[in-house]
Amino acid sequence: MSTAWKSRYALRTLRVKGSTIRELLKLTQRPQVISFGGGLPAPDVFPVQRFEEACRTVLEQHGAQALQYGATEGYEPLREMIARNLGRYGVVAQSENVLITTGSQQALDLIGKLLVNSGDRVLVEAPSYLGALQAFNVYGAQFISVPLDDDGLCTDQLENALRLKPKFMYILPNFQNPAGVTLSEERRHQLIFLADKYGIPIVEDDPYGQLRYEGEHLPPLVVLDYKTLSSHNGLPPANVIYLSTFSKTLAPGIRLAWIVAPSDVISRLVLLKQAADLHTATFNQMVAYEVAKDGFLDQHVKLIRQVYRQRRDVMLQSLAEFFPPEVTWTHPKGGLFLWVSTPEGTDCRTLFRAALAEDVAFVPGDCFYADDNKADEGCRHMRLNFSYCEPEQIREGIRRLSLAVKMHVRGAQPSLEVVGR
Ligand SMILES: Cc1ncc(COP(=O)(O)O)c(C=O)c1O
Repeated sequence: MSTAWKSRYALRTLRVKGSTIRELLKLTQRPQVISFGGGLPAPDVFPVQRFEEACRTVLEQHGAQALQYGATEGYEPLREMIARNLGRYGVVAQSENVLITTGSQQALDLIGKLLVNSGDRVLVEAPSYLGALQAFNVYGAQFISVPLDDDGLCTDQLENALRLKPKFMYILPNFQNPAGVTLSEERRHQLIFLADKYGIPIVEDDPYGQLRYEGEHLPPLVVLDYKTLSSHNGLPPANVIYLSTFSKTLAPGIRLAWIVAPSDVISRLVLLKQAADLHTATFNQMVAYEVAKDGFLDQHVKLIRQVYRQRRDVMLQSLAEFFPPEVTWTHPKGGLFLWVSTPEGTDCRTLFRAALAEDVAFVPGDCFYADDNKADEGCRHMRLNFSYCEPEQIREGIRRLSLAVKMHVRGAQPSLEVVGR
């Protein structure tokens, strides 16, 4: 290790912990391992041919522009398309309200840079998206955690947390990562009401909203905020910054996402993004626009929904077939994950090692808790991804995992017999 550099690292770097998930997932690279660990889309649904055609069109027709530096705000036709599409869900946005980012992960980093001074409080769900916790942590965020249940954030526990004056709330209303739960409509209204009452803005992260496999689409927080506020004072949307991404609907490798916010907030974010990377790759933005246009994205999302719905169902059926009755899990109506809860006293980190011995992987739940005191609670949980593996692998993976579970779960009978339920 180079001591010349180590003594010069900025203080904020000392707050950055390695990602346990990424370290654990390295162990799952062996080809025989069935991994429910990463949040990866199914590679077999990537629209490769459409990308091939789009690349050719972009290079043939707009090569000089595509390979040139571009505007920090993003490629204008893409911003307009995103603003138009959001309109279908009731989000009132013009292209000036849209900033293209290099993945939502960059959006989270820019928001951390924009809003978080060292020591500022940020309210998060427990559990929450690890990448956001990491991004805000770099800027010295102190987290206030509010628990979730099957209907999402427990809004009845929100008021005490809001009295601690967090700078903002970071909320995942749809098919939450990692828990797979969705914030009910009633709680969405309560959340907006309380946000308004205490004057605390919301960052709404919605990578999975379009991937719904059952039930009705629920209004985004940004829309409810607008409706509430405009009925108050007729002002444009102000209290919610909304994020989404092409990572789960087109492909994560193109690293394209967007922030929707009031135009003055976008202007500030543009300055920060300029300092970070000047702009997101012009070529990628132009290709994504070419791929998505003329209704292709809508059609493609329908295909993804079909594929993932089937995989979710296979995982749910396999869990019911193989897992012991002491263990429970969420029933996600969309997204990529479900959340398994084991009885108190079980340590899913130990279980992870046993699962790897059976050639199957998941992510132990403690990684997703901001508050170290709650990490113990997290150890009782596992996040399982159902989008990546094919149905037969899902069934086999759950069978293998059940062997490790029966050995480690308190009260469960270790047995190689199938426990039906
Ligand atoms: C809740 C949430 N936010 C943000 C991201 C990051 O997405 P992107 O690939 O756009 O950086 C993910 C990725 O899994 C996610 O689950």
